[in-house]
Amino acid sequence: AKRLVIAVDGPAAAGKGTLAQALAQFLGLPYLDTGLFYRATARLALDAGAPLEEAVRFAEQLEGADLVRPDLRTPDVDQAASFVARQPKVRAALLQRQRDFAAATGAVLDGRDIGTVVLPDADVKFFVTASPEERARRRYRQRHGCNPQETATLAAEVEAIKQRDSQDENRATAPLRPAVDAHHIMTDGLDAAGVLKVVVAHLEKRG
Ligand code: C5P
Repeated sequence: AKRLVIAVDGPAAAGKGTLAQALAQFLGLPYLDTGLFYRATARLALDAGAPLEEAVRFAEQLEGADLVRPDLRTPDVDQAASFVARQPKVRAALLQRQRDFAAATGAVLDGRDIGTVVLPDADVKFFVTASPEERARRRYRQRHGCNPQETATLAAEVEAIKQRDSQDENRATAPLRPAVDAHHIMTDGLDAAGVLKVVVAHLEKRG
C-alpha cells in the first residue's frame, strides 16, 4: 500500500510538533521537524559570528548531527531562524532534503510551508493554531517547566511570538499560510491527547 504523506503547518508553539510526533507514532510513520533545518542554519551562523544575511552557506553544509544539537531552542535562535527563513536561497537549499524524507517511506512533516510549498500533493494537511496567549504559556512551560508567575513575563513572550508570526506570515517566499485544502485545528483548551483525537477523527472520515 502507498505510504501516507501528512503535512502539519501552523504558527510558533501552536502544538504542531507535539501533534505531528504523536500522529507519526500512531500511524507508524517517520517524523520530521522541518523547523530544525532553519534553527540549525541560524545556530551555525550565530556560532561562526557570520552575518545572518550570509546564512545560505550554512544551510548548504548542514549535516544530520547539526539537527540534534541541544541548543536549537533558545530565544536568540527563535528569532534568527525566522530571519534566515526569509531568504529564498536558504529555503531553496533545504527544500529537496525535506521532499526526499517524505518520498522514501511516507512521513509526517511539520513546519510553515509543508502543505503549500514542500509537499503540495500531501495526502492530508492540517493547519494547527492556538491563540497567542495560549501559545506564549506553552512556550514558557516548555522552557521553564512551570507556568509564568508574572503577567509581565507572559506579555513579553506573547510579543515575541506575535513578532515571529508576523515575520513568518509577511515574508515574500513561502509565507506561513494554510493550504486551501488543509483541515484547521484550533487547539486552545485541548491537551495533546485531545488534539490527536480530533485529527484521527479527520483521518477516519477520509477512510
Ligand atoms: O517550527 P519552529 O518554530 O521550530 O521553526 C523555526 C523557524 O523556522 C520559524 O519561525 C520559521 O521562520 C522557520 N520555518 C520555516 N519553514 C518551515 C519550518 C520552519 O520557515 N517549514
